[in-house]
Amino acid sequence: LAGGALHQDLAGTRVLISAGGTREPLDPVRFLGNRSSGRQGWALARVAVARGADVVLVAANVEDPAPFGCTVVPVGSAAELHTAMTERAADADVVVMAAAVADFRPTEVAADKLKKGGSSEPTAVALTRNADVLADLVAARRPGQLVVGFAAETGDADDDVLGHARAKLARKGCDLLVVNDVSAGQVFGRPDNAVTVLAADGGVTDVAPGSKDAVAAGIWDVVAPRVGPRR
Ligand code: CTP
Ligand code: CA
Repeated sequence: LAGGALHQDLAGTRVLISAGGTREPLDPVRFLGNRSSGRQGWALARVAVARGADVVLVAANVEDPAPFGCTVVPVGSAAELHTAMTERAADADVVVMAAAVADFRPTEVAADKLKKGGSSEPTAVALTRNADVLADLVAARRPGQLVVGFAAETGDADDDVLGHARAKLARKGCDLLVVNDVSAGQVFGRPDNAVTVLAADGGVTDVAPGSKDAVAAGIWDVVAPRVGPRR
């Protein structure tokens, strides 16, 4: 593991991490999903355990075996992730929302498998907005609890990557936002990653490109000194 991983600077810190990508059911066998592999969340968990934290991982559809030493809570949909995170956040000093949470779910979930033929073949999927888990965790947070969000952004005609990210940090109200620049479209499913960590107090830290474990160590280097005295 990269520099700092041998420090026990998270000793006794209770860390709650969501990772992976939610799946929103359409019928008993189909879902709307996303390409998040869960690997960055896994790396955050691995590094936090190595640095002494007690880690609970709320894992949405992650294929890789869970890192050693974590408590894993498996979830499927955004609603399940919301419930699991809300329940577990009460016992956490740091909450990290690394999961890719679906913004929308199918409004209707068919009780039986949708079939071809017959009188009523589906022609469209109606969608309903999911709750914002991160915003709800921020609203319910205990004094001293640190809440960390993630955002994958591209620049566009309105603003650049960091401009969009600063606006999102303010909108969400979290303490830190880990920003992936996905303009080149090459983060998902790749082993390497590079991020910038924005803080609500204005701090900006670039984490050098590297393996997901190295990036995770860089992220914890920013988070750990901000963890409150309650351990
Ligand atoms: N997030 C969440 N609940 C949602 C959607 C997102 O908790 N329903 C969290 C993600 O886990 C991430 C952060 O919010 O930590 C930012 O996610 P992102 O998709 O970038 O933000 P959105 O508010 O959904 O904005 P956008 O319209 O750009 O997708
Ligand atoms: Ca979103």
